[in-house]
Amino acid sequence: EVEPIKDQFGRVLKDLRISVIDKCNFRCTYCMPKEIFGEDYVFLSEKELLSFDEIVRLAKTFAKAGVEKIRITGGEPLMRKDLDKLISRLSEIPGINDIALTTNAVFLPKKAHKLKEAGLKRVNISLDAIEDEVFTQINGKGVVAKPVLKGIEAAQKAGLKIKINMVVKKGMNESQILPMARYFKGKDIILRYIEFMDVGNHNGWNFNNVISKKQIIDTINEEMPLEPAEENYYGEVASRYRYKDGEGEIGVISSVTDSFCGTCTRIRLSADGKLYTCLFASGGYDVRERLRDDISDSQLEEEITGIWGRRTDRYSDERSENKHKNRRKIEMSYIGG
Ligand code: GTP
Ligand code: 5AD
Ligand code: SF4
Ligand code: SF4
Repeated sequence: EVEPIKDQFGRVLKDLRISVIDKCNFRCTYCMPKEIFGEDYVFLSEKELLSFDEIVRLAKTFAKAGVEKIRITGGEPLMRKDLDKLISRLSEIPGINDIALTTNAVFLPKKAHKLKEAGLKRVNISLDAIEDEVFTQINGKGVVAKPVLKGIEAAQKAGLKIKINMVVKKGMNESQILPMARYFKGKDIILRYIEFMDVGNHNGWNFNNVISKKQIIDTINEEMPLEPAEENYYGEVASRYRYKDGEGEIGVISSVTDSFCGTCTRIRLSADGKLYTCLFASGGYDVRERLRDDISDSQLEEEITGIWGRRTDRYSDERSENKHKNRRKIEMSYIGG
């Protein structure tokens, strides 16, 4: 039996988010603006990336420390070679009962089936607009919605459960709130609206660009009546709302106007082997160095327990207090949300 490990506020460690690569085939304006992530941007080298052996070893240690859920992120995780092989190894770890992937879906037509066979249960797919004129402006590569919709279709065919992530930013895609809801309603796909967050240092975040959870819900509710639904699991980041006509549900992730640090059970592992106890952290703990120094299993477990045990992060709760102003933060494409 696993003794749950608690941080300084009594929060239990439950989820491990693993970034497997920092590259992406998109250049979304709010995440990897192409002015910053251009031709000469230096991504992690092959040698810097954790190997699958190293990732699996860490995941096993985390499972022993109480982690039950693993999410694979990037950059774009499907750009990591042989990802299905990693997933199949992770899915065999005792205690891990949920493996999910966050992706932009473009490579899913080629990979969904294999991923499902490897043990992947579900995918969260980013799509910020359904109309091409809007979507082409957001992803920085002029990609229309069709390839993403093809990816969604492939995931459905493969039997993966699907959620759609839509970041809502004023001046970017508020015109898409209703068209997206109409499109996914009744399709057994959960659309989740995400308040634009101040992740990283380059996305030009400003509170005036945030469209609040309340505004989003009011907009949808007016046309398609909603009622609140209970959470699916402890610490779920999205608040759920169900359509009163029975045609499914939506979610809203409101880290800005209604933060959820009090129930945060997540730790993050970067592709180069650093552990971060918050999405808005400035620094991480270099476990790759320790692994490559031949640390023993028990020592590794002790370090991990210590890192979580000392944790006091609650960035979203403290955002308005200005105490983190001008602090350098990790990039979204480096840690994967
Ligand atoms: P489920 O397991 O399906 O509930 O996934 P998830 O919502 O936890 O993961 P996903 O990768 O789909 O993330 C959706 C959005 O929630 C992204 O914008 C993430 O950055 C954001 N998010 C996830 N975890 C946290 C968190 O701990 N803090 C904050 N502030 N945002 C988070
Ligand atoms: N604010 C909110 N969500 C973001 N994402 C990327 N950048 C931001 C941001 N600044 C989303 C992506 C993806 C998920 C992992 O995080 O669109 O769906
Ligand atoms: Fe790539 Fe996702 Fe960032 Fe867009 S939001 S640039 S798809 S990692
Ligand atoms: Fe957890 Fe940090 Fe997000 Fe708060 S801001 S919910 S502490 S990751």
